[in-house]
Amino acid sequence: MSFIPPIDDFPILAKPVNGKRLAYLDSAASAQKPKAVLDAMTEFATTDYSNVHRGVHHLAARATERYEAARVDVAHFLNAKSSDEIIFTKGGTESLNLVSYAFLSPRISAGDEIVLTKMEHHSNIVPWHFMRERKRAVLKWVDVREDGSVNPPAVAAAITPKTKLVAISHMSNVLGTITPLKEIIQIAHAKGVPVVVDGCQGAVHETVDVQDLDADFYAFTGHKLYGPTGIGVLYGKRAHLKTMRPFQGGGEMIGEVTEDKITYAEPPHRFEAGTPPIIEAVGLAAAIKYLKQFDRAAIKAHELDLYQYARDQVRRLKWVRVIGEAPDKGAILSFETTAMHAHDVATILDGEGVAVRAGHHCAQILMERFNVASTTRASFGLYNTREDVDALIVGLEKARSILV
Ligand code: ALA
Repeated sequence: MSFIPPIDDFPILAKPVNGKRLAYLDSAASAQKPKAVLDAMTEFATTDYSNVHRGVHHLAARATERYEAARVDVAHFLNAKSSDEIIFTKGGTESLNLVSYAFLSPRISAGDEIVLTKMEHHSNIVPWHFMRERKRAVLKWVDVREDGSVNPPAVAAAITPKTKLVAISHMSNVLGTITPLKEIIQIAHAKGVPVVVDGCQGAVHETVDVQDLDADFYAFTGHKLYGPTGIGVLYGKRAHLKTMRPFQGGGEMIGEVTEDKITYAEPPHRFEAGTPPIIEAVGLAAAIKYLKQFDRAAIKAHELDLYQYARDQVRRLKWVRVIGEAPDKGAILSFETTAMHAHDVATILDGEGVAVRAGHHCAQILMERFNVASTTRASFGLYNTREDVDALIVGLEKARSILV
C-alpha cells in the first residue's frame, strides 16, 4: 500500500528553520495542522461564530449546530454508541483528570488500588497520585518487558479485589508500544474492574473502536491529531457518565440553580462547565474529516516504514541505544546517545532544521525503568518522508563530531 505524504497541505513544513529545510520529527509532542483545519476554523469564526447553547439568535443556533455536529463526528471517529458519550475538554490531561475526580474519587477509599503501567505519561500518572495523596489509595505498577511491550498476564496479576481502576495507555509516547488493549480490558472486566485508556497517541496512529474494545473511558487530545490545541475528548460509557457527579461547576452544566438547591444537566453537558472550546471543536472535526480522506492503514504502513528506515540507520551508529522495540509498535523512535546529553543532541539537530524532543518525555517512571535520564525522540506523522530521516542521521553524525 503506497501512501504519498500530503506535504503541501501543511504550510509550516515549507518554511525553513535555521536556514535549513524543516524535518519535523516531533509529532508525538504536537502535530502540525493542515490548511483544511486552519481554514475551517477561520471560516467558522468569520461566518457562524457565537457562544453555544445560550442565545436564541441566529448565530447562536448556527454555532450550537456546528459544535454539536463536531461531537457527532468524534462519536463516529471512535465508534461510540452515541454522541452523548463524548465530552469535550481542554485536552487529554483534563479528560483524565475528569475521570479521576468525577468517576474514581467517590468510589475509592484508603487502601484501594489503581493499576497502571510503568510506561504511562505523567497525565495518566499524576491524577492517580492525587488519589494516593487525597484518598490514601495505592498505586500498583505493572512493569513493561525489556522490549517495551506490555504483558497482559502481568496486568492480571496486579489486579486484586481492592483494585478500583486500571489506567493504561493505548500507545506509549516514548516507546511507541501499542498495548494489547482489548485483552487487558477483558481481563479487567472479568474481575469487575473498569479501564480508562489514555489514547493521546493511540487515537492518532490506530483506528479506535470503543465498543469493540469495550473501554469504559477513552481520552485523547486534538492537537496531536492534526487538530488545534485547547480541545480534548473524553469518551465514557453512558452508564458510567449518568452516575457521575460534575467535575467543574459553572454555566451550562446545570438543570436548575436556586438559593439552596442545584440540579445538573444530563451528560455530556454536565461535564462541560463554562464556555467550551467552540472554534477548536470545529477544528477537531475538520482534522477528523481531513484524516478520513486517507486509508488509515496506509498511513500507518507509511509511518512504520519511516520508523524502520530510521531505526535501522540509527542502530548502525554504535553509540546509539534504541529503547522500545515491542513487536507491536507505532512510529516513535527513542534512543540514548553514549557520551552525549539528549538536549545537546537535540540542539545540534535543531541547527540542522531537524525538530525532535529530548528529555524524559513526561515519563520519568519509564526513564527509571530503563535506567536513562533522558532520551532523544523522533516521532513521525503522515507528512514525514525519508528525506526527514536522512536529515536526522546526518544531524546525529554532526552532533557526534561536535560533542565527542
Ligand atoms: N505528551 C507529549 C509528548 O510526549 C507532550 O511529547
